[in-house]
Amino acid sequence: MVEEALRKRAEELRRLIQYHNYRYHVLDSPIISDYEYDQLMRELQELEAAHPELITPDSPTQRVGGEPAEGFVRVRHPQPILSLSNAFDTEEVRAWFERVRKLDERVEQATFVVEPKLDGLTVVLHYEKGLFTLGATRGDGEYGEDITANLRTVQSLPLRIPVEPQAADVPSRLVVRGEGLIFRRDFDELNRKLAQAGERTYVNPRNTAAGSLRQLDPRITAQRPIRLFCYAIVDAEGLTVRTQWETLQYLRRLGFPVAQEVAYCDDLEQAIQVAQELEEKRDELPYELDGAVIKINQLDLVEALGVVGKDPRGAIAYKFPAQVVTTRLEDIGVNVGRTGVITPYAVLEPVEVGGVTIRQATLHNFDYIQEKDIRIGDRVMIKRAGDVIPYVIGPVVGARTGAEQPYTPPDRCPSCGEPLERIEGEVAVYCVNSGCPAQLVRNLEHFASRAAMDIEGMGIKIAEALVREGLVEDLADLYALSKDDLLKLEAFADKKAENLLASIAASKERSLARLINGLGIRGVGETVAGLLAERFADLDALADASREELEAIEGIGPEIATAVVDWFAQPRNRRMLAKLRAAEVWPKGGRTEPERVAQTLAGLTFVLTGTLPNLARQEARRLIESHGGKVTGSVSGKTDYLVVGESPGSKLQKARELGVREIDEAGLLDLIERGRSGGES
Ligand code: IVH
Repeated sequence: MVEEALRKRAEELRRLIQYHNYRYHVLDSPIISDYEYDQLMRELQELEAAHPELITPDSPTQRVGGEPAEGFVRVRHPQPILSLSNAFDTEEVRAWFERVRKLDERVEQATFVVEPKLDGLTVVLHYEKGLFTLGATRGDGEYGEDITANLRTVQSLPLRIPVEPQAADVPSRLVVRGEGLIFRRDFDELNRKLAQAGERTYVNPRNTAAGSLRQLDPRITAQRPIRLFCYAIVDAEGLTVRTQWETLQYLRRLGFPVAQEVAYCDDLEQAIQVAQELEEKRDELPYELDGAVIKINQLDLVEALGVVGKDPRGAIAYKFPAQVVTTRLEDIGVNVGRTGVITPYAVLEPVEVGGVTIRQATLHNFDYIQEKDIRIGDRVMIKRAGDVIPYVIGPVVGARTGAEQPYTPPDRCPSCGEPLERIEGEVAVYCVNSGCPAQLVRNLEHFASRAAMDIEGMGIKIAEALVREGLVEDLADLYALSKDDLLKLEAFADKKAENLLASIAASKERSLARLINGLGIRGVGETVAGLLAERFADLDALADASREELEAIEGIGPEIATAVVDWFAQPRNRRMLAKLRAAEVWPKGGRTEPERVAQTLAGLTFVLTGTLPNLARQEARRLIESHGGKVTGSVSGKTDYLVVGESPGSKLQKARELGVREIDEAGLLDLIERGRSGGES
């Protein structure tokens, strides 16, 4: 028998973790640090390890677990999982309205809800007495596949509802419909990591989300940044929600993630306008969407209107024009990445998609070119979706003239001319010459980046110039630069040279974690660098570490351990380390308290609009929040500052009406900074 006190504590920990998980992944407004969250998780894990009888199915420790399945089990949906009919322009939307109005005159008085048409994989989630018990794919609408183990790994999916105690009553049985998807930013980050590890990158967020949720091994799904948005109740016992709008509010109260962009509309014209606004800002949204769904709000009316085939009459998908175009593939170029990975890209006859002219697109890797049989001179299909880098879908085989040329991948590095190598088990091709100038440029860029040594004013252009002029042969040479050196470069005057030297000097104070990240060791990014800096006292200690010692650190596997050992074994890198030490770029590591961030924005409320030059929305939000400020979604009398980026939305006008102060990204950073120096004096 477990002591009552332990059982109580386990219960409390589960509740706390679920709540903080929800604040982070659903509300996007955490109130404790990652460190504190990890402590709670660790305590629960230890408790459960000592007393396995305390483990419950909704325990957050159970999100990842279990062995790969042999196959998926078919499950019958409690109600048909319907689809939607499409409208390709506003006239077709109005025609739909006319049709349903003739069927039922109540449509005349109907109100509407407009929602983003999320481009992911439909999921059907079952809750029994508030506990998540089953999750299925849509399948043929009648039967789906049981993907419960995979869905458990999705952090924004509540394992128990309501997430906040007493937030709402829960029917004994509730089945909810939602969409699993991947945010564009997370997708790019995932691909960046895969590319860095020499692995195959993914083609687009939608297929990646769908593929990841249909993995037989949930441990793989757990590594993919899948998100969830819910939008319908499929089945519920004894629940009365009368409208779609109420449904969304109710789902939100239970703790389900619901897209921010849903809107209530009084009539069809307003709904059309909202759908068009959604289309205009589709590129600003964090996820891909292929349209807007316009739904009649009154659920009894929707029910009465019935279905045609698999499409309910009470809703319609207003599809945005596809951002796919065809153009001619003029050539295939190759890039040399920071770790020496060679990647091909398409050189295109310029073509416009969604108001942007595209001249280049990614081709992923050399295998992709071969698998898709892409030839130079081909007409190719290009897809551009928001800020995802445009990519080549494939050739239009029917348009071939016979003059197209099959492509042969290079066998030498285009930058240094050394032979390329392919590492077994990887798709990537590498230039392994550590003195390769193209790699050095990328390495310098990475070394100076915000997440690493944060050298302000040092971008890729300057990195290129420094390497081209022979002023820098490795990262450490940065610290030996003189003003005279910099003045030799194009577009460098006194002031600019002085500023850059000051930034370089300031970077000597950065933490060991940042320095390790900056070295550009394959597989060692921010997270791994943090782990290493915590474990080792300085670069000497890390350089002496054996493979076994490294592998013993939680979160570090054999590949990374090998990469680290190999990196430090290279004489070239050894020489560079000696130079760094001589330049006093030698921070100390070891276990340190999490950085205390000055609360310079305490008491201030911010609203963000438009695209900022450097910070992504989420980054700006986290930055503000970590300095004690608040970020809200709409401008009101309580707003202190509107942070304005490129192509701002209607918030700008509202702010001007209310006389709210406007600042840009630099202004925001200034505000954060000013407070900080004020606090020191
Ligand atoms: S409602 C009766 N709402 O679009 C309910 N569907 O083309 C019918 N989808 O299979 C679906 N976002 O996977 C609805 N906000 C949304 C949606 C949405 C994406 C998907 C859904 C469906 C497909 C139909």
